[in-house]
Amino acid sequence: MEFSIKQGSPDLLKSGCVVVGVFDGGKLSKAAQILDKAAKDTLSDLIARGDMTGKAATTLLLHKVPGVAAERVLLIGLGKPSASNNKSTLDILNATFKTLNGTPAKDAALFLNDEGVGKDATWTAKQAVLIAAEQSFRADGLKSDPAKPATLKHVVFASLEKPSATLKTTLEQTAAIANGMELAKTLGNLPGNICTPTYLSAHALALDKVHKKIKTTVLEEKDMQKLGMGSFLSVTRGSEQPAKLITLEYKGGDKKQKPIVLVGKGITFDTGGISLKPGAEMDEMKYDMCGAASVLGTMQAIAEMGLELNVVGVIPTCENMPSGIATKPGDIVTSMSGQTIEILNTDAEGRLILCDALTYSAKFEPDTVIDIATLTGACVIALGHVAHGLFANEDKLAKELLAAGEQAHDRAWQLPLWDDYQPLLDSNFADMQNIGGRAGGTITAACFLARFTKEYRWAHLDIAGTAWLSGKQKGATGRPVPLLTQYLINRAAAK
Ligand code: BES
Ligand code: MN
Ligand code: ZN
Repeated sequence: MEFSIKQGSPDLLKSGCVVVGVFDGGKLSKAAQILDKAAKDTLSDLIARGDMTGKAATTLLLHKVPGVAAERVLLIGLGKPSASNNKSTLDILNATFKTLNGTPAKDAALFLNDEGVGKDATWTAKQAVLIAAEQSFRADGLKSDPAKPATLKHVVFASLEKPSATLKTTLEQTAAIANGMELAKTLGNLPGNICTPTYLSAHALALDKVHKKIKTTVLEEKDMQKLGMGSFLSVTRGSEQPAKLITLEYKGGDKKQKPIVLVGKGITFDTGGISLKPGAEMDEMKYDMCGAASVLGTMQAIAEMGLELNVVGVIPTCENMPSGIATKPGDIVTSMSGQTIEILNTDAEGRLILCDALTYSAKFEPDTVIDIATLTGACVIALGHVAHGLFANEDKLAKELLAAGEQAHDRAWQLPLWDDYQPLLDSNFADMQNIGGRAGGTITAACFLARFTKEYRWAHLDIAGTAWLSGKQKGATGRPVPLLTQYLINRAAAK
């Protein structure tokens, strides 16, 4: 999908569909007034007859309106200006693209920037790009007869007045974010028999081929052995698929600048191992690599936008499987940090691969490390499917990530990382155990990781509830690519 900007009059712009707003009560937006005049009161007549009320997110599609160059006119209800907020703006944009996608129009010109939609024109344009991309996403690539791709290929952000100087950059960046989300969704939706650790590493190597500034390296199990990654290797023991430790180094900033490291959990299937999961919905554990997918999507996005920042992606990836040689409850392993871990539940495997990847990350002398993981079912109970769980060992970092989430409408919610929870991980036989009991499960998982991140500034995003949706709308969401990318954009701007 292509996005561009144009200044012009709505009656004169040639396009498959011109979109203008109507306020609740029937007042026409400025662009709609111009159309109405050109069309000899067609719009005001329809409103007077009650065909369009202007209620938020209602639509009326018109064909061959006399005096209008576009093939179609879409009237979109903007609601009451006083009731306009982020949620209503998203509803309006979703309805707009749903209606456009129901027509054969190949391109559309949206007059939504002048007034009425959203409090901030830039935010609205960004969300429009993401929603247009979301609605054109198809997850049926493995069906023998996939649905047709969306016909809408080009969206023009049109305005009566001169568009702001920054809008072009915003659109380019947001298109890159949408592409990154698409990659994260595609990888997330792939089944475990296709999306293996080897598949993910092949994709990371492909990004190296396409983008000059990305350098990918892949460590094999023998390399991890040498590094002493006993914790990571204990998880892959039961699997026939070789584990990989992928690193992608993006060098967009100057040489001396310390990188921001993103660490993504890449369990390509989580059966629970010997502590086997129950059967219901176990298929959804193919999504246990969505942290890894979000790192790949974010790396691709920043490379596409040529962000001036140094960023490293680190992806520990393997399967968690039961077998005759699989790790057993009670087994004790030594992590790369030297700390020993009693594995009381082999289903708490995410923290076991992440702790070694986090220790490994210190070698990049990071400015900041952020890990992203579908870590705990408890996070789904706590926050549902709306907010990511956020932890940080520095409050300024937490605030920056929360703000980036608000900006990108990919929101997180902070939970406490207090030492009061640490004793729950005490073990009689090792330096720690890998579970802390049912109470506060998301927090004790983060507390476990905190024991490996004392050397640097660090945050942890638990995306168990947000990385994918279940039921009828089953599918990966591409989150938190928007939050991560926005945070990196903000960091690059602050340099
Ligand atoms: N990948 C799961 C977490 C998960 C479960 C995410 C359901 C989304 C939906 C993780 O590896 C896991 O199994 N965690 C256990 C930890 C427990 C054994 C302490 C959990 O949450 O049940
Ligand atoms: Mn698990
Ligand atoms: Zn898992």
